[in-house]
Amino acid sequence: MCIRDRSVIYPGSFDPLTNGHINIIKRASKSFDKVVVAVAVNSSKSSIMNIDQRVKVIKKIFKNNNKIVVDKFEGLLVKYANQKKIKTILRGMRTVQDFEYELQMATSNNKLDSTIETIFMVADANFAHISSSLIKDIIKLGGSAKEFIPGAVESELKKILDKRK
Ligand code: COA
Repeated sequence: MCIRDRSVIYPGSFDPLTNGHINIIKRASKSFDKVVVAVAVNSSKSSIMNIDQRVKVIKKIFKNNNKIVVDKFEGLLVKYANQKKIKTILRGMRTVQDFEYELQMATSNNKLDSTIETIFMVADANFAHISSSLIKDIIKLGGSAKEFIPGAVESELKKILDKRK
């Protein structure tokens, strides 16, 4: 399969976007014509940043890369993929713990729509230990998450948390 002339959807909650996500997005933009970073309204997770705050900060980070498009979606991912006419979903795989969850999601999505394929990119070892929850904890507890998230994301998160105090 030639993937060089294709688009891909990279979905996630991105609450917040981390350097691990950025690494996957940038690498994917070298193999695909277009990477749609699709920010999910995820009803099963309680979020710190609302959907528009997440979209805004991700757009800011990729504003100089015209191969990366940032969008939001609600409801089934396969429906969204069909609306966008993109048949490939990209997910990052950090550790073996991710595998079971990703296998379930990829299989379910393929059962919901057999024209949709999920592909995986192995996370860079430098970022394999990062998760959005971990970062939120660090910031809530007054630590610096500089190493794990871009400055724009850190300041946005701090602003949101300060307002809640
Ligand atoms: N680097 C750093 N962290 C990463 C990462 C990477 N490369 N890849 C994943 N993560 C982390 C995230 O930070 C997140 O951490 P958290 O659990 O502490 O918040 C965790 O791994 C998983 O998050 P994410 O990749 O954003 O996925 P998700 O599980 O939040 O979202 C959706 C999954 C949105 C894609 C999925 O729920 C979905 O498709 N929803 C739409 C509804 C639907 O179609 N449901 C049926 C699906 S079968």
